[in-house]
Amino acid sequence: LQASDFVVSQLLIGDGERFKTLGTAEHAIGQLSEAGLERNDAVLALGGGVVGDLTGFVASVYLRGIAFIQAPTTLLAQIDASIGGKTAVNSPLGKNLIGSFHQPSVVLIDIETLSSLPSRELVAGFCECVKQATVASRKLFVETRDFLDRLRSNRVPLISTELQKLIAKHCSFKASIVAGDAQESISRTDRRSRRILNFGHTVGHALEAVTGYRRFRHGEAVGLGMLVAGELSKNLGLLEELELKSLREAIRLCGPLPRVDDLDEDTILDLISRDKKSLSGQVQWVLLESIGHARILDGKHVTRRLLKHSLRSSWREI
Ligand code: GLY
Repeated sequence: LQASDFVVSQLLIGDGERFKTLGTAEHAIGQLSEAGLERNDAVLALGGGVVGDLTGFVASVYLRGIAFIQAPTTLLAQIDASIGGKTAVNSPLGKNLIGSFHQPSVVLIDIETLSSLPSRELVAGFCECVKQATVASRKLFVETRDFLDRLRSNRVPLISTELQKLIAKHCSFKASIVAGDAQESISRTDRRSRRILNFGHTVGHALEAVTGYRRFRHGEAVGLGMLVAGELSKNLGLLEELELKSLREAIRLCGPLPRVDDLDEDTILDLISRDKKSLSGQVQWVLLESIGHARILDGKHVTRRLLKHSLRSSWREI
């Protein structure tokens, strides 16, 4: 950027959800002000989801909003978090409790950045790829699963044209959903509403919270959450066993997931019932009718007993 005559100031923030706070945002805003940023300047987020969420939030409130650019460096951020303008910081009362919608002017992705990621970060990113493909279409699901299969059997390297194309397809799917429902309308329950992107998140968030955000990477928790949402869909008679098997297989191909067998089921169930995306006190479940067809179901159809049974059976083989 400097070589192209831009005036650049840098600000480093700590890596991890615990740095995504109002305190860090206030510090960053102070730095923007000291650097003399005006309304026609821009902030560029170079990093993973935490950096993107925080930068977007800061850009949305500094001088009532300046432009920002997303340059995501993790797989999860490249296919999901950098697209769609969700910005946030955490509060002691909840993850992403404070935030805004502020669309990036540009999302710039270079898959070479993935070559330095630790393998767990990749597993987490692959889980989000499976999540997105499962609610998108059978075609994207099969393409994602086939890539993972070939990667796991060393028939394709990670940094490859195949991955580049796959990420581009994920980005266009996510952009199409956002274009149709940018602010995640709460009244929409159709299979193209932005809410379907929360597949696996109800249980995933509870897993993150019950372990104090220390054990799971977000994508890993979503991987485990999808297993439960799939099992629940089958137990409610919405999803065929064979479809559930395909979903399980795709999640298995993402890589090893952290253990869950020592976690207290009742605490998880209590946390689920307090999910922040609940409406009128009812948890909103994103379930599956088939691969590529998500469905939003009000929590009154899901008894605690059924949920407990689904938790147990979905994690038995992990
Ligand atoms: N990560 C889900 C969304 O952007 O809506």
